[in-house]
Amino acid sequence: MTDISEACRAVLDQPDPIAKVKAARKAARDWRMGRLEQRFTVAMPDRPARTDRPPLLPPSRMPKRGRAGSERARIAMLHALAHIEYVAIDLAFDLVGRFGAMFPPRFIDDWMKVGAEEAMHFALLERRLNAYGARYGDLPAHDGLWEAAEETAGDPMARLAVVPMVLEARGLDVTPSLISRFEAARDMRSGGIMRRIAEDEIGHVAAGVAWFRFLCDRERIDCVQNWQSQVRRHFRGAIKPPFNDSSRDKAGLTKEMMAGVAAPCDLSHTGRVADGGAIPDSG
Ligand SMILES: [Fe+2]
Ligand SMILES: [Fe+2]
Repeated sequence: MTDISEACRAVLDQPDPIAKVKAARKAARDWRMGRLEQRFTVAMPDRPARTDRPPLLPPSRMPKRGRAGSERARIAMLHALAHIEYVAIDLAFDLVGRFGAMFPPRFIDDWMKVGAEEAMHFALLERRLNAYGARYGDLPAHDGLWEAAEETAGDPMARLAVVPMVLEARGLDVTPSLISRFEAARDMRSGGIMRRIAEDEIGHVAAGVAWFRFLCDRERIDCVQNWQSQVRRHFRGAIKPPFNDSSRDKAGLTKEMMAGVAAPCDLSHTGRVADGGAIPDSG
């Protein structure tokens, strides 16, 4: 019988996007059906397997891609979003495979479900790209997302503090403007996909908050102060308002928590997706 770590590793070791989606769905389904042994016998890789498409560039070297509202800009947005979801699949299964043994089985339930949802998000965006005559891998993508995983590879508290609670939460802030951009260009399908993703992502952030709190309670330490110090230690970027307060609230990220880590408000840095292709969040 395959165990949890082997099923997670199979996802991370699969570079082909479509095969990765299949491996992710299989792992989540097998767990749900009780077909995975609750053991962790293999280690997770330092980096997931990748093909040469898309070429990965540092965020600063991402090309400008088309006038806002143009078809080219929409393809660039969908491609950048698909890349985030592709990396988010690996982030979810790495979390389960790397740290799952330290948690009760409900942790595996939650993050296997997250992983399956990230795979669905990727598949929806890839299908949307196909409708535009494009596909994932056609454009360069930025290589910043796995850095947070490497930075927090040794500590589940740091990982939860940064990946779901900072990066995925950032997605909650930028999604409403992405939805408006697609809908302003009469691309209602892409807008609809983003609405669905936005709903799911609240759940991903909420799972991050809940399991971070679980660890804090277990160690009897203050959750808010500890989160803020983890973020200052392990997250190099700035956490920039404006925040989507209602979505953050639903996920359990309170104003009190945000107040201790937020950078001064600078509206000029938000929503750079269509211009630079760099989306500073995780799916
Ligand atoms: Fe997510
Ligand atoms: Fe996602």
